Amino acid sequence: MTHDAVVEPAPAKLNLALHVTGRRGDGYHLLDSLVAFAATGDEVQLSLGPLSLQVTGPFAPGLAADEDNLCLRAARLAAAEAAIVLDKRLPVASGIGGGSADAAAVLRGLARMGHALPDMPERLGADVPVCLLSAPARMRGVGAIVTPLPALPPVPVVLANPGVAVATPKVFGALERTDNPPLPDIPRFADLAALIGWLRGTRNDLEPPALRLAPVIARVLAALTAQGAGFARMSGSGATCFGLFAAAAQADKAAKALKQHGWWAVATELAPPLRPR
Ligand code: C5P
Repeated sequence: MTHDAVVEPAPAKLNLALHVTGRRGDGYHLLDSLVAFAATGDEVQLSLGPLSLQVTGPFAPGLAADEDNLCLRAARLAAAEAAIVLDKRLPVASGIGGGSADAAAVLRGLARMGHALPDMPERLGADVPVCLLSAPARMRGVGAIVTPLPALPPVPVVLANPGVAVATPKVFGALERTDNPPLPDIPRFADLAALIGWLRGTRNDLEPPALRLAPVIARVLAALTAQGAGFARMSGSGATCFGLFAAAAQADKAAKALKQHGWWAVATELAPPLRPR
């Protein structure tokens, strides 16, 4: 059954671990990443009509609703028309999917309205294939090789962003090495302790160069740890960091404390898959 109007969540993407394993001739980097999604994010609404975009929500002012907006580019790639409303609830250019998550949500919504998914959606952005899945996955290549993983345990998580935009190409450009080893095998994680134990043997290779470009990120990570996170790391090319917590009440308290610094912070949890498999 196809729909005339749909609402699609665009969950925040978290690179729980991200190793940079190579660099292609065209300058793009080869990655090996454990990706999870949070139970918070942007939202897109699609309805029948000529192609248009309206951006609402707390982070709308940071985002142009122009031709280049990834929501419009996604619809054009799918050769589809729709009236799109993007509710921008997450900070822009912040390492948690953003434009890729929004583009993927538009493609999922268009599919529910009867349009075929376009070939090579990664042309819109390296994170679009994994955001189309919006479920735990291992992401390799420049982003297009996505292997679904078993569900992660329900884990309270705090997302925090100090309000500095770090440009992804600059962070990749500041890497000291691009030939790091791949991730170790990813087991099925029974609980938070098992997940944290595994994460301690991994890195986000983009964290050291991002910290050099925006030292405030180190303060966000320290604040998450001081507030009781069992594990804290930056996601993607930053500047958003995540902290994993043992209890939701602790995560709520931590998010409140981080907001005292004037930072954006939200308590949520690692999301169950968007569509149960
Ligand atoms: O694909 P996306 O628009 O997210 O990428 C933004 C920039 O990040 C690219 O222009 C490129 O400089 C860098 N990048 C990279 N290797 C990747 C993904 C992104 O070098 N696998």
